[in-house]
Amino acid sequence: MRILTKDEIFSTLKRLISSAEKEILITSPWIKSEILRQILPQNKNLKINVIIRASKLEDLLITDPDVFDILDKYPKANIYLNPDLHAKIVIIDENKAIVGSANLTKAGLLEDGNIETSVLIENKKEIKKLKHYFKEIKEKSLDIKNKIFGFIINSTNSREAEAVLLKKIPEQTYIKIPIDENAFYLGRISSIKNLNLGIFSSYENTVFKNLLTKVDQINQIFQSKNSLWESSAFLSYLFENRENIYIASIEILAEFNPKKVKEKESILKTPLEPPKSGTVITGFEEDIKNILKINHAGYEMSMPVEFGNLFNTNIPVFLDLEKITTMHMAVLGTTGSGKTTLIRRILEHLNFKNIKTYIFDIYGEYFANLQMNKEIIDHVVFDDVLFPITVEDLKELLKEEGINIQEKSSEEKRVLALFRSYLKPDINILAFKEKNLEDIILEAIDLTDVSGILKKELIEFLEILKRDFGEDSLNNQSKTIKKIHNSLSSSHKNIVIFNLSKITDLKSRINLSGIIMKEIFKTARETDLAQMVILEEAQNFAPEKGYGEIPSGVENISYLMARKIATEGRKFNLGLIAITQRPASISKFILSQLNTQAIFKLINKNDLEAVSVFFEFSKQDVYNLLPFLKPGTVFITGLAVPFGILAEIKLG
Ligand SMILES: Nc1ncnc2c1ncn2[C@@H]1O[C@H](COP(=O)(O)OP(=O)(O)OP(=O)(O)O)[C@@H](O)[C@H]1O
Ligand SMILES: [Mg+2]
Repeated sequence: MRILTKDEIFSTLKRLISSAEKEILITSPWIKSEILRQILPQNKNLKINVIIRASKLEDLLITDPDVFDILDKYPKANIYLNPDLHAKIVIIDENKAIVGSANLTKAGLLEDGNIETSVLIENKKEIKKLKHYFKEIKEKSLDIKNKIFGFIINSTNSREAEAVLLKKIPEQTYIKIPIDENAFYLGRISSIKNLNLGIFSSYENTVFKNLLTKVDQINQIFQSKNSLWESSAFLSYLFENRENIYIASIEILAEFNPKKVKEKESILKTPLEPPKSGTVITGFEEDIKNILKINHAGYEMSMPVEFGNLFNTNIPVFLDLEKITTMHMAVLGTTGSGKTTLIRRILEHLNFKNIKTYIFDIYGEYFANLQMNKEIIDHVVFDDVLFPITVEDLKELLKEEGINIQEKSSEEKRVLALFRSYLKPDINILAFKEKNLEDIILEAIDLTDVSGILKKELIEFLEILKRDFGEDSLNNQSKTIKKIHNSLSSSHKNIVIFNLSKITDLKSRINLSGIIMKEIFKTARETDLAQMVILEEAQNFAPEKGYGEIPSGVENISYLMARKIATEGRKFNLGLIAITQRPASISKFILSQLNTQAIFKLINKNDLEAVSVFFEFSKQDVYNLLPFLKPGTVFITGLAVPFGILAEIKLG
């Protein structure tokens, strides 16, 4: 250890710093750019950590903006603010340090300044201790480069506030507003406006010159007890950015107290106090990702399933599957927006043994694209099949071919009675178990009068069906039923995909899906398993009245079953996920039962109107954003998430 008198400090400092090989650590309450320029070496690869004092505005007036500029030129340099800093330390690599009374200012280091003294330390053990202390100070300081996004300048109420941004960040970024040691508000930047300050600076910045000199006025702007600290950061910003200020509107989503997770209490609270002006806003860091594993009620999710990242971050987001198997979900968005991919991401992250999923896959796009162990999947591929399950369905088919069977003649009565006895909307009594459609029609033909017109019509009908749908689709019914039975009893598979892509007739798809759902509903009553039914193109299976050709009453068994699951499924842990690109066309009644909503890009006015009910006033900005969302960006709101989340899912 060597004592340094005032006249020795500056030269020793310069000499030592110029010899630095890896890093320079500095704490100096005040720093002048003039001095910093003289002592920092050329080597731009050095790691430099500088902690300065920022407790009063004067601190930042002494530590001038050029200090920030100089350090900016070193890619590995970082500057930290501390309100209580008094120590003056310079540590060079592992082997040299100077500790004393001098700031890195003219008064501290140059002639005619203060009377100062320092010590030079070369003992490695002591330096190790000093480095440790430096680290402690750094941890208590604010990382101005990385963490601080800005600070609150004004809060309208406990749900809305405005902040000045210190760095350019995009709208819809999630931010954190600390309230006290335990709790913080979580906010979302709903919009950013840019104030151009050019007009002020053209008068030689008189307005801001005044601001800078009138410390009291600044105090009035930031009326919090230790707001000066925050104000200093603001000012350093203003120095650097004379032309533009960015003001962010923030929606405050919730108050969090992460400690409560351990205490098994709700960690979500409704914010009741507006955040104080001057409060720093920071990024939403990795380490608080656990709070995204709570559900809407603020309790830990019982079945968290990862599905993507919080918008603009790498932070994973979760859905509480338990809230979906009991309270259902809607997945809405225009074609190509990412709906199917979201479902795939959810299935890929399912690691619960006690949940069974049934997917009605219209386009046959699930099995091949799922990036997971396929052994747990039962892929049931149906061949093309005509599947009328009531006499009305068959009458409908006949009508399409111009054959109108009234129930007038005894011949007609016989034929329809036969159809009626064979066709039932229930897999267990449907004659398809033993007979195919062709057999049934042939039996009917046998019942007709030998040379009557009906016989001719039915024979022709059979020919037309064969021509239009293929011979197989009239003879695949028994095989189809067998496949359904097998898949429903293969209980060891967690995921069953009903691939309906080869079935050309829409009504047949609806009927098949409906009778399968009926069976699933029945078994749900008898099992403790949590189960999920996933319906693609749900506007066909659960249509709103008057939507296109598809019936939305008793004649649509899928509609009846989807409605039954949506209303009664929760008692048996049976959930419904309805996916549609036409939210306006899906049954409003069923939609209202789907308590979590994943909403992707939407452009059609009627569809936007249909989802508007899910956006309360404070989420208007997100609603207005819907037409502009990129594929893979989704807004999820409702019971399975802690709050409305804008998320990104990985496509492909
Ligand atoms: N396996 C893949 N590889 C590459 N891109 C893919 C893959 N799967 C999907 N995508 C792309 O991701 C985007 C979202 O696709 P996705 O199938 O999830 O949309 P969707 O909302 O289900 O559409 P639709 O209503 O047509 O079913 C599309 O742009 C699509 O082209
Ligand atoms: Mg899709």
